[in-house]
Amino acid sequence: MTNIQSVHTLVESLEVGDDALAEISLILEMRRNFSISPYKDKCMKRRIAIRMRSCRCLDAATYCNLLRQSEQELDLLKKALTIHVSQFFRNPSMFEKLQTVVLPSLFKKILADCEKTNLRFWSLGCAGGEEAYSLGIILREFFAQQLLTTPTEIHASDIDEDILLAAALAEYNEDRLKDLPDSIRERYFISNGPRMRLSSQIREMVSFHQQNIMDVESFVPCQLVLCRNTLIYFTRPDQEKIIHGIAHILPTGGILVLGKSETLVGETRKLFTTVCPVERIYRRV
Ligand SMILES: C[S@@+](CC[C@H](N)C(=O)[O-])C[C@H]1O[C@@H](n2cnc3c(N)ncnc32)[C@H](O)[C@@H]1O
Repeated sequence: MTNIQSVHTLVESLEVGDDALAEISLILEMRRNFSISPYKDKCMKRRIAIRMRSCRCLDAATYCNLLRQSEQELDLLKKALTIHVSQFFRNPSMFEKLQTVVLPSLFKKILADCEKTNLRFWSLGCAGGEEAYSLGIILREFFAQQLLTTPTEIHASDIDEDILLAAALAEYNEDRLKDLPDSIRERYFISNGPRMRLSSQIREMVSFHQQNIMDVESFVPCQLVLCRNTLIYFTRPDQEKIIHGIAHILPTGGILVLGKSETLVGETRKLFTTVCPVERIYRRV
């Protein structure tokens, strides 16, 4: 084996032990006010190892030293720990269910309610805004009449300030648009060099704000919550805490949508009935 090969093999097999994780956790908490304790250790260790590899740190102690000295690496690590993968109409069959089953009944219910309230949707862990904007496109395409009579708001939140700035800009690489029908792409996107920019009529439908999903006391009432592919990174007790927080702000009949690999946990199962098990759509009882 050449020297280069042996260094490469060593880097490939980097491991982050419990002590290193505890130290990195402390550094992030003190310097970025960011707690990794609600997240699954295994997931955090895997992500830290990826950063160590990128920085060519051969052991966790060297990486901790780097973290103490480099503001830039602290930001890069925080970004790596909060995974931002998303795309427009991710899991298209879920959006179809929203369009054909869930949204018609929500609009009907709000019209039937004597009390006049706005219809409020919330994308929690919104990444670059793809999920919230997909909902906006469906509303504009299929519920234009209802929007005239029912004031409707789409809120979207994430912990990462930079991703929220990108979300508000709404400019995307092609890969984020791969599940979009051509007609939608033509109607709502214009090319800007190699990127695609979402039209202002959809951008203006969504308001973004920074929020930690663990701050359940700050959740605001709404009728539909999309919380997909975010819970999966959290420990089970913290997943339960978050779902309890969501249940608390949903009215009876309100809707929660989880990601394909996520489900209701513990006592929260008693708070919802299942609308569609495949698409992980639940209704508040
Ligand atoms: C994988 S993305 C999911 C995006 C979108 N919901 C979807 O399904 O396509 C997970 C998002 O959760 C956000 N996130 C991670 N930890 C968070 C926290 N503590 N509070 C709020 N958002 C968080 C990340 O920044 C990231 O943008």
